[in-house]
Amino acid sequence: MPNNLHLINHPLIQHKLTLMRRAETSTTKFRALLKEISLLMAYEVTRDLPLKLEMIQTPLAAMDAPVLAPEKKLVVVSIMRAGQGILDGILELMPSARVGHIGLYRDPQTLRVIEYFFKVPEDLADRDVLVVDPMIATGNTAVAALYPLKQAQPRSLRFLCLLAAPEGITHFHQEHPDVPLYTAAIDDSLNDQGYILPGLGDAGDRLFGTK
Ligand code: URA
Repeated sequence: MPNNLHLINHPLIQHKLTLMRRAETSTTKFRALLKEISLLMAYEVTRDLPLKLEMIQTPLAAMDAPVLAPEKKLVVVSIMRAGQGILDGILELMPSARVGHIGLYRDPQTLRVIEYFFKVPEDLADRDVLVVDPMIATGNTAVAALYPLKQAQPRSLRFLCLLAAPEGITHFHQEHPDVPLYTAAIDDSLNDQGYILPGLGDAGDRLFGTK
């Protein structure tokens, strides 16, 4: 396993992921589960956020108490459209996080990834950025999304997904060996259409009920 790959296999996450994989799980349930898992994963991904001490007054005494150190809030960048499901969970844990969106699609002729939307907070240089997308299949989308973000030179950059295929992980680490990748599971392979096997199907369709 590459150094920068973090498998978050907490039993609660594994259980909820199994429920999400089941073909009979409804859109309502799928959405709720993705939110819950994201919240649990965010806990792990933010484990090393720096703290500073701040003098506070409890009802009984004064104390130096830990608070998150960065003055500039974390930025969560959602890759549209399925990234929204993870974003919702993280915002529940960190409601003051800033949010960015990246929209990408694959040109059916050239198979190249085309960016059609990019909106992130302006001052990324002072911020930690967490990019979210539930699925890393070929890795093309994740790889493409990270280039414009790197140009903005954030203080740190990490990527959170739910499921990854081995091919996608290899591609990701070839192009962005410096970006830590967090996932709840590494599945077996990709099918001819680029879907993860056994996977959970199309994350966007299952999240939004579009199929
Ligand atoms: N995107 C999905 O939503 N599902 C996959 O299996 C692969 C990519």
